Amino acid sequence: MDLVKLHMEPHTRAKHSILTRYLGGWFPIMSTFPKILYLDGYAGSGIYDDDSPGSPLIALRMARDHFLKSQISKGEKVFYFIERDKKTFSTLAHLIHEEFGPCNSDGLCDRLPSNFKVYLQNGDFNTELNEILNHSREKGTSIVPTLSFIDPFGYSLDLDILSKILSFKHCEVLFTFMSGFLSRFVFEEAHLQSIINTFNVDKGTIASIRSITNESAREDEFGKLLVDIMKKNLPADEELYWLSFEMIDNYNRPLYRLIFFTKSEKGMQVMKDAMFDIGGRGIYRFSDFYFNPSQASILDYSGDSQPWVAEAVEYLHSRMAYQDWKIEDFQ
Ligand SMILES: C[S@@+](CC[C@H](N)C(=O)[O-])C[C@H]1O[C@@H](n2cnc3c(N)ncnc32)[C@H](O)[C@@H]1O
Repeated sequence: MDLVKLHMEPHTRAKHSILTRYLGGWFPIMSTFPKILYLDGYAGSGIYDDDSPGSPLIALRMARDHFLKSQISKGEKVFYFIERDKKTFSTLAHLIHEEFGPCNSDGLCDRLPSNFKVYLQNGDFNTELNEILNHSREKGTSIVPTLSFIDPFGYSLDLDILSKILSFKHCEVLFTFMSGFLSRFVFEEAHLQSIINTFNVDKGTIASIRSITNESAREDEFGKLLVDIMKKNLPADEELYWLSFEMIDNYNRPLYRLIFFTKSEKGMQVMKDAMFDIGGRGIYRFSDFYFNPSQASILDYSGDSQPWVAEAVEYLHSRMAYQDWKIEDFQ
């Protein structure tokens, strides 16, 4: 079979490392629930041109091979992969079948534990999710605790859907937010209407974003609009937390931000650890758009003022205090 392979870039590797680390914590922690869902809305083909696995395979392997086996064996684990492109979808279906399958129409796969269910959908994320959300609204039911990984190539998608997902209990969103493109495309007439539709803003808001000369500050404005949309469907008394991790290209230009939304302090802590581990490796940085002083947030630690120091001390203390360490452990 002719496999569709996505192109691997260093920032994609970083994104996958963050996803892997987060899932490593999420699966065992969430296994106390009778049923959980990993939703990969823009699933891709499952393979890259350096043969590394895509996000659906990362998630399945993480759950299957997790060292906390007895924990993971509790509760149902549902995996739902949506991919719009036909050939990309066929590659994904083929790879899943090869490694874990065959899988039947109930989602049970021959080479996966019986508490795992895998569903693949060749379709459009917005359409599929709208159907699910409308269905649960009509029936007055909730969706199960979900981690939604939303990883589109572009910026134009129905953000209201993400906000609706977040309105359900124990649901989280990890979102590739194309803020770098937005901050550049906002000046191009060809993209204007799509940006206006995506963020549901008027031309006055666009004009004020355009007047900001600093590219990163323009991105922050889009970040603020995004957070406002994400909060829209949340009950007023519910707190939303978020962490943002900025990916930079080889020319030090912002590409996109991987933004995590949760209502759980525990989820926040696990994601902080995941981002912190990767962020220490050079060309990536945390951004602090819309910094909310009431939430424990990791700040941009590439800046001169180094506001991250206090957080770093706290982090090291929590990880290292009251244990013996050898010099070799630090090498
Ligand atoms: C960045 S890639 C996904 C990569 C994958 N998440 C990973 O980390 O390995 C984005 C994918 O979304 C698919 N896509 C684009 N628009 C879509 C839509 N509306 N619904 C579902 N999939 C879509 C593209 O065909 C592409 O394969």
